Amino acid sequence: MEQTFVMIKPDGVQRGLIGDIVYRLERRGLRLVAAKLMQVSRQLAEKHYEEHRDKPFFGELVSFITSGPVFAMVWEGQGAIAVVRQMMGKTNPQEAAPGTIRGDLALSIGMNVVHGSDSPESAAREIALWFGGETPLKYERSMDRWI
Ligand code: TYD
Ligand code: MG
Repeated sequence: MEQTFVMIKPDGVQRGLIGDIVYRLERRGLRLVAAKLMQVSRQLAEKHYEEHRDKPFFGELVSFITSGPVFAMVWEGQGAIAVVRQMMGKTNPQEAAPGTIRGDLALSIGMNVVHGSDSPESAAREIALWFGGETPLKYERSMDRWI
């Protein structure tokens, strides 16, 4: 079963959007297999966003992600990586379709509420980075045979 890393960014936590975002992913049929509310270190933020190290927005991005607690999660389900990306909407919330998390809940690219892995390689890397050493739970819900 495919797993993806999802993070509610500091703006989402501060705005009280954890429940809304978890609700959407859960209703879709995805299964939460790991979660933690945590303060991100500069080192973890830089490693997480290392592909953007040379971009002009890198400094602000790292400052933002370390500015308050984030809610880090692993979600599992058929096609979970692409499904979550679709549900998140475009990176720039002003271009994100209504009905998507960013399209419903955000306006600015710098504070776009949520992160989701963009490929199987990113998902494996990010799950190891954020939950390394912890094994995501293996369990079944009785409703899973209906999804
Ligand atoms: P990116 O990986 O391109 O987007 P996504 O989060 O959709 O995978 O960029 C990572 C984050 O960097 C993005 O969520 C918000 C921030 N960012 C900016 O602040 N300015 C920008 O121009 C871009 C492209 C991203
Ligand atoms: Mg990305």
